[in-house]
Amino acid sequence: MELKGKNLISPMDLSVEEMTFLFDTAEEIIASPQDFCELCKGALLASLFFEPSTRTRLSFEAAMLRLGGKVIGFSEPRSTSVEKGESIADTIRTVASYADIAAMRHPKEGAALVAAQKSTIPIINAGDGGHFHPTQTLTDMLTIRREKGGFGGITIGLCGDLKFGRTVHSLAFALARYGGIKFVLISPDELRLPEYVRDGIVDYAEVTDLREALPSLDVLYMTRVQRERFFNEEDYIRLKDSYILNAAKLKEARQDLMILHPLPRANEVSTDVDDDPRAVYFTQVKNGMYIRMALLAALLGRV
Ligand code: NCD
Repeated sequence: MELKGKNLISPMDLSVEEMTFLFDTAEEIIASPQDFCELCKGALLASLFFEPSTRTRLSFEAAMLRLGGKVIGFSEPRSTSVEKGESIADTIRTVASYADIAAMRHPKEGAALVAAQKSTIPIINAGDGGHFHPTQTLTDMLTIRREKGGFGGITIGLCGDLKFGRTVHSLAFALARYGGIKFVLISPDELRLPEYVRDGIVDYAEVTDLREALPSLDVLYMTRVQRERFFNEEDYIRLKDSYILNAAKLKEARQDLMILHPLPRANEVSTDVDDDPRAVYFTQVKNGMYIRMALLAALLGRV
């Protein structure tokens, strides 16, 4: 599988076969991490975070360090020349002359694509505004595959802010390529999945009531209402608690349900769900590091 030198901007940049290769590689790393600890020796990751992040940034950095590589970067763009008005294009040209690969998160949709067009090193989109977040998708799918054995035939509920949630957009596009997947889109009317994403999926139903949808689901993907993408605070306050999953509501769900969440959570998953074996969002966090190890190694041509 030749992934060397590729960019990962959209979830569709990877074929189904390439995704399978990455999941298989992540499985090998999980089984025997010590065998991979020098795989990326000598390689340098630039970690460019123009927007807040905990898991994505730290898992990328941990991934590179665990592969024996090194990391440079910033998580506070105000400390960089962006503050002096430097463009993404110029920033990326600069970074490309120091590092071998870059992970970039930016508040503007399309920023990672612009960067990739100007870059001589592979660019990984670590979230571009309310658009896509393909490495979260790889994380989500590895977690589903580990628990369910695959994707065919599952019914997945996507719940919460489907309008601005970039993790949802990426996941929907990536999963739509597998046979027999049913999507249940659970959101308030104002936060419906955008038309361009709905057009990319085949079998879906839109509902506003989580309780009604819950019993039919194999996977429930909860999301946070994306406060930073709202035009006004009043709308956010009105919509932020549209869904709150708690232990009582889960009584109506299947015993083999998987509850995923890209995190961070606000109020939408109550902490009384955390000890339920169906809640796998902290396992998902760990999988995020392993799949990023597989991805970095693949794009650097080391696997
Ligand atoms: C998500 C993101 O940044 O889009 N977080 C993450 O990367 N795990 C989800 C969110 O912020 O709600």
